[in-house]
Amino acid sequence: MARRRKIRSSISIPITLGSITVLLSMALLVGWSFLLGQKISRSVDIAGDVWLLVLGALSFVLIIVVLVLFVVSLARGIIEVRKQDTFIDSVTHELKSPLASLQLCLETLGREGLDTDAREQLRVMMLEDVDRLDAFIDDVLEANRLSYARSGMVSLNDVALSDLVGECARVVRIRYKLEPDELRIEVDPHLVVTTDRAALEIVLKNLIDNAVKYSVRPAQVEVVGRRDSDRKVLLEVKDHGIGIDRKNLKRVFHRFYRVEDQEVRQRRGTGLGLYVVWALVEQLGGKVQAISEGRGRGTTMRVELPIAHVVSA
Ligand SMILES: Nc1ncnc2c1ncn2[C@@H]1O[C@H](COP(=O)(O)OP(=O)(O)OP(=O)(O)O)[C@@H](O)[C@H]1O
Ligand SMILES: [Mg+2]
Repeated sequence: MARRRKIRSSISIPITLGSITVLLSMALLVGWSFLLGQKISRSVDIAGDVWLLVLGALSFVLIIVVLVLFVVSLARGIIEVRKQDTFIDSVTHELKSPLASLQLCLETLGREGLDTDAREQLRVMMLEDVDRLDAFIDDVLEANRLSYARSGMVSLNDVALSDLVGECARVVRIRYKLEPDELRIEVDPHLVVTTDRAALEIVLKNLIDNAVKYSVRPAQVEVVGRRDSDRKVLLEVKDHGIGIDRKNLKRVFHRFYRVEDQEVRQRRGTGLGLYVVWALVEQLGGKVQAISEGRGRGTTMRVELPIAHVVSA
């Protein structure tokens, strides 16, 4: 908290100074033009002053443009620093809570007299914690890799879509202990896509995970996959959960962005998942879009992919 306040105050000083300089330059320019205007109206000879005025005005405009750019880039810096700060808090939490749970399970396992059922329960809990840690570390590594490498990193395979969706759904079902009808799959069983399997798996796991996480239990999530045209495949992950305001539909794909909302804050997350989804879908030559009628009205994440990804040279 103290660190955040320190960063904010250290960056807000140059921003204030930049804004004051912009205002002063503008006041000077207006004053200068006003004085010259008065000279003209009093018919004083100004032939020599006109060039000076033009040059001065141009320099002022240049100074103002540079200062505005400076202020904008600083403001962007502040936003990025704040996001990274929130990210570090979330990362710490995401790492610490499964680790604390693992420690507790291991301590309990060490006790004498535990029956087989209790041991099995602890084993399942530990596997879930490891799965959470694994998914989280995958996202962090993938986001980091994607921020350096933008394209040309795909490795192509023929992927049977319904198998892949089934596999991703299985992982999420275990993670959230879903009842069978909380997550329905309707994917054309003959649909084969030539794409990067590992990348598409991360995309699907993130979208299905969000659909369940941002729903109220029992969830009503549906994954639909079909051929859209000769060249395209459409994948939709639909939920009836907390929904997304219209103004945030694009922002949710920004790195570290989480909607400012009590319902979102109650759920764990770092705001990395959809950034990873967006960047991977771009690499696969597709598009991803968030659709929602607003808060409380569910969300559909629509992914459009080429049936055969073409690797650009
Ligand atoms: N299906 C959804 N319904 C409602 N809001 C959603 C949904 N999916 C994403 N969001 C909003 O978009 C934000 C960004 O999602 P993203 O998956 O990137 O991060 P996260 O779920 O918060 O964390 P994580 O990095 O663990 O996935 C979420 O915090 C949430 O506010
Ligand atoms: Mg997520």
